[in-house]
Formats: sequence, C-alpha cells, structure tokens
Amino acid sequence: MASTPTPLKHTHMLSAVLHNSYHRKKVSLNGKWAFVVDPYETGYRNHRLGIPHDEMPLEDRSRYYTFFQNRKPEHAADMVEYNFEEAATIMVPGDWNHQSPEWLYYEGGAWYRRAFSWNITKGRRVFIRFEAVNYECHVYLNGSKVGSHLGGFDPFNVEVTEAIRGGDNLLNVYVNNRREEEHVPNKRTDWWNYGGITRDVYIMETPEVFIDNYQLQLDPHNSGMVKGNLRLSSALAGVEVSLSIDELDWSYQALSDAEGTIEFTTELPNVDLWDPKNPKLYEVCFKALQDTIVDKIGFRTIAVKGEDILLNGEPIFLRGVSCHEEIPSGMRRAHSVEDASFILSSAMELGCNFLRLAHYPHNEHMVRLADEHGMLLWEEIPVYWGIQYENPETLRQAEQQLSSMVHRDKNRASVIIWSLANETPVNDQRNDFLRKLKHQVLSIDTTRLISAALDRDELDYSDTVKRQVRISDPMAAEMDIVSCNEYLGWYSGTPDQMEDGVEWFLPNQKPFIVSEFGADALAGKHGERMERWTEEFQDYVFEQQLKMLEQIPSLRGIAPWVLFDFRTPRRTLPGIQDGWNRKGLISNEGKRKLAFKTLKSYFSEKILQYESRTLKSGLQ
Ligand code: GCU
Repeated sequence: MASTPTPLKHTHMLSAVLHNSYHRKKVSLNGKWAFVVDPYETGYRNHRLGIPHDEMPLEDRSRYYTFFQNRKPEHAADMVEYNFEEAATIMVPGDWNHQSPEWLYYEGGAWYRRAFSWNITKGRRVFIRFEAVNYECHVYLNGSKVGSHLGGFDPFNVEVTEAIRGGDNLLNVYVNNRREEEHVPNKRTDWWNYGGITRDVYIMETPEVFIDNYQLQLDPHNSGMVKGNLRLSSALAGVEVSLSIDELDWSYQALSDAEGTIEFTTELPNVDLWDPKNPKLYEVCFKALQDTIVDKIGFRTIAVKGEDILLNGEPIFLRGVSCHEEIPSGMRRAHSVEDASFILSSAMELGCNFLRLAHYPHNEHMVRLADEHGMLLWEEIPVYWGIQYENPETLRQAEQQLSSMVHRDKNRASVIIWSLANETPVNDQRNDFLRKLKHQVLSIDTTRLISAALDRDELDYSDTVKRQVRISDPMAAEMDIVSCNEYLGWYSGTPDQMEDGVEWFLPNQKPFIVSEFGADALAGKHGERMERWTEEFQDYVFEQQLKMLEQIPSLRGIAPWVLFDFRTPRRTLPGIQDGWNRKGLISNEGKRKLAFKTLKSYFSEKILQYESRTLKSGLQ
C-alpha cells in the first residue's frame, strides 16, 4: 500500500470537473431566494465607465454601488439604494420568466441572494455547484468574487474553501440572460430565452484530494473488456486508486501517474448488458485516499456497421421524438426528477425507445432517469443555425459546453449519440469549427457515436423531376451517423406533392436518422386535410413522411419535431401560435393530436419488424 503522499496545495490543483456530484453528499440551496431585477446593471457595473465593479481597483469600489457587498445604512443619513431583505423573492431552481408576469419577456441582468449557515470541517474543500444558469453568471460569497461562468445549459462549480465562513454566509449571484452574437446559441433561436438559475444549486465538501472525474464503459470494439480512466483533483503520483463492483465480484486497483490519472482496459466478466428492455445498472465504487464515490453504471456497447446501428451487437431502429426541456402547461423550464418523469413517460406512451434532447444539454435528472428506464438518448449543445464560427470566443464557449456535457454524462448507458450541431450553414469556418468539436468529444469519450443535424439540399418539385433531397454536407464524412432535419410537406411543398414520392441521395454505407420532420397544428382545430394548421393537415404530413421515409434503405431512426408544443417568441400568428411552436404531437394542454396516434402505430410496426429481424438473426 503506497504511503499517503502529502497533498499538494491548491497551486497544483487541476480545474475541477467535479464529476458525479449526483451521488456526492451535498447540501441543497434550492428554495426561496431574494431577487432584484437590474436591467441597467446598477449593481454590477459602475455607471460612468461601465466597468464591472469586481474588475475595478479595490480602492475605487467603495465609491460605487455593488450589490454583492450587501451594504446596509448604518446611520439615518446613509445612502444605500438597494435592500435584499425588502426585495422580491424567487424560487430556485426555476427560470424567472414564468415566476411573475412582468418577467415573462425579461432579458437582462438580475441579482439573487441566499443566506445560509455552514460548519467548517478542517482539511475539507468546499464547492458551490450550479447545474445550470442562463447565460452569464457572477458568483460572490460574503462580498468576495468566487467565480463566474458563461453558458446556459452546462453545470459548473465554484470553489469557496477560502471565502466560506463558519456560521452565517451571504451568497450573491448576478445573472444576465441577454442574447449576444458571440454566444452559443446566438441571438436567433426558435425557443424561449428562459433566464436565471434554472437548475439545482448545492454545496459539496470534498477531501483535500478527491476523485475529480472518471469513466468506466464497455469497449465497443473489444467485447467483454471494459475501458476505464480516472483523474484525481491534484497531479499526484503513486496514489492507490481502486474500483469495485460487488455484484460482479469484480475489482481493479492501480497507482496514479504523475498527472494524477489512471487509464486501463481489463476484463469485466458475466456482466448483464444494459438495453431498453433490461436497463440493468450496477453500483460501482471508486476509492482514492479519503474519497469514495458510488455511481450507478449500465454496461452496453453502441457501434455502427455499414448502414446498421448495433446495440450490444444487435441492429436497432431508433423510434424517437425530439423534445425541449420545458413543461408547457407551466410555460417553464423543466428541472426536476418529476419534470423528467413527465417528459419521459409521454415519450414512452408514444412507443419511443429514443429521445433527442434538443437543442442543448438537458438536466441530469433526465439522463439518469433515461438510464433507469432504458430510453436511448441523443444529446447536443446549442451550436444552432448561424453562430460566429470565425470567432475564437464562440469556439471556446462551444468547447466548454461540449466538454461539460460529455464529462457529466460519459458514464450514462442511455446516451448513445453526441451531436455537434443543428442546421448550421456549410462553409469552411463552420466545417473547421465542427471538426474541432468532434476532436474534443473524442479526447474525452471514444465509446459513443457522433452525429449532427446536417445541411441538406432540396431540388424543387416539377412535373418531370420528383422532389429530391441530397445530403452533400462535407461533414457527413466525419459522422458515425448521417442525420438531417427536413420539413417536406410543411416548409418544402405540401403533403399532397409527396404522393409521387421523393428521391433521396445519401452518403452510402452509413446509418441515416431524420432528426426532425413535422408540421404545426393547433390542437382542436379540425378541417380538410389540406387546410394548414389543422390536426388533419399535420396528420397528413406525418402519413406522407412515414411513407416516404420507409423507402430509404439506410433509415435507422427518426426523431420527429416535436413531443410537446413549446414556447418561442418567433411564432406570432394570432389565434394559432400566440408565442407557441405548434409542431407538438401533444399540445401545451396535454391533448394528443391525430398525428400522435399515426406515429404510435408506425412505431408498433417497427417493433415487430425489428423483433422478427433479431429473432431471425438469433436463429441463424
Ligand atoms: C428547425 C429547428 C427547430 C425549429 C424547427 C421549426 O429544424 O431545428 O429548432 O423549432 O425547425 O421550424 O419548428
């Protein structure tokens, strides 16, 4: 047993991913917080020069308002123009848009404040973890700046070991959700720009040196073998690291290298493979020095072979649907286990085995629940439409969001596809940008498939030529699965024009997924099937789409747009849209539209087709 090396001071600390907070002991900071809307950033920037207070010389700060210093008037004549005790309150987690009518369209700065008490434990490090804050965030504890973050859907940790006090503490968080061209996504999306602390917040303690992140997954190219890696929070060599799965009577030990990491491939015998029908999860225990983490991991392989997608070596068809992270009836961001269960059960009612979590990483409850219930997932970051592909800062933000997502979910059996982009314009900068993102995914996880909703060319319909759809996107060659969104029958032509069929030109020898198709319908609006906005029209589009897609030999999955009607300021048609995208198969009030039943019966046929195919392959 190696002697316990004297832990290095924080100077050797690596940036903490602090992976698997899900199973770490933590104290929730969820609940009611004080809330001050600050559209002119009065509490964040000095009014003359616009410089953020926490970037000003210390001696100048006291002359300006800084909400994070929590000043109170000491004398009757004192001038303080803010007061968190008297301020509005807001629930955390939760976007601010749905919590008060005047915040529905609010985009700008706002301050949160939460008091909490703490007992210091010597030799322990303390972090505050935010599962998501949209979009810019600055964190102050007891008047000191302790961290900041850019990004709307990726978790981050702020170390507060030095700033936290025994007894009472005051936590101030400044959030600004204004859309910016250099952000990811930029100013133009087709979803509501929900602002605020939208997911869980909690405090975690760790030993001085802890297990920062790890991966344990079956090797997709080496059956019966498991690939593992683990990194400590400090670059310490010679630390004994152990992994164990009691249920399999399996364990593995190794000493960390100079970077504080271990990496290995070893046998994992007699494992009961995870799949949608048998979502078997094992308790895996990771130990190093004083840190012990227990995770629940499902073991399965996912790979492509020719036009097939193979789950544990068997061909599968992805019976999917796309969804936003939103509870439509509440007009709010989804964030809880209950919300995840609501979304997941609606997809399962449809007969889905696959869910496209669009267009950004959803909260971890959704991914963990998918692991438990056997739902396969496509995850993506909001590299969406025309962001600034030439801007290094935009690339940095995209890479950070991608890295957070892959680190957070790289042990989740449910996650089978990492998607790099959605409907992005084909040009050299964008291709280079996406290649960098692909490289980054593979530097963290080589056990999953990579795709993107690629660009497609459509040849218009004429009486001599059938409508043609061609994927000539150069990035198709870089993908394990070729995917694209297409709206034949809605944006491209009408459903009756699909009666003569459509010709598809796809890269060969690759599986193909249609990552979006669909049509709007106002639930309860009925009419002729060629009357746009009726349920009949939407159902006609689905009928024609499914007929067309069945003609594509390499089709291995669909994720129609979209499970529920969702909020978006882009959709303004009075009496029909009123700020909603109506492509939901289920309305915002929970009504199943006609197309829901059409898709559900298609999936039932798919189940029979693939079960008989698997049976045949099993009989061979
Ligand atoms: C696009 C986009 C979606 C959008 C959809 C629509 O494909 O990916 O985010 O909501 O079309 O127009 O409804």
